[in-house]
Amino acid sequence: MSRAKNRIAVLHGVNFDVLEKRDPDLYGGLSLNELEYRIGGWAGELGFEPIFFQSNSEAEFCGYLHRVGESADAAIVNAGAWTHYSRAIGDALAVDPVPTVEVHLSDVENREEWRKVSVFDGLVEAKISGKGVEGYHDALRLLAERLGL
Ligand code: DQA
Repeated sequence: MSRAKNRIAVLHGVNFDVLEKRDPDLYGGLSLNELEYRIGGWAGELGFEPIFFQSNSEAEFCGYLHRVGESADAAIVNAGAWTHYSRAIGDALAVDPVPTVEVHLSDVENREEWRKVSVFDGLVEAKISGKGVEGYHDALRLLAERLGL
């Protein structure tokens, strides 16, 4: 019997390990563990098996994306500041074979000019920003529909 296609990788990039120390007005004041707990709850309700990954190393982040298809059927990526300039991560996303949604906690369209740029445009299925933690819920729903869960 074939395996259910329900594994989702949730990737957090640079500075997410100190999320609770970052501006609570922008990022909600949650720790990464608390954020992952919320995401994990929603993922389970939708029938996903979540796998979490965080790194401050761009090389490690690219390496994880190179292999994401081996461990997951879909992905959610919040690459933090890398989103705005890392062509290397963009190139790694181009070889990521699973449907992937970009999420940002804050409203990157209405902050500094440089945050309006995402070098991942055209490489992800959707971009969700400015909805706080709820943005991950939206991304999970979108991907659950995409995978037919
Ligand atoms: C962020 C937005 C980025 O501009 C910023 O560098 C982050 C977090 C967000 O989730 O709102 O680190 O990706």
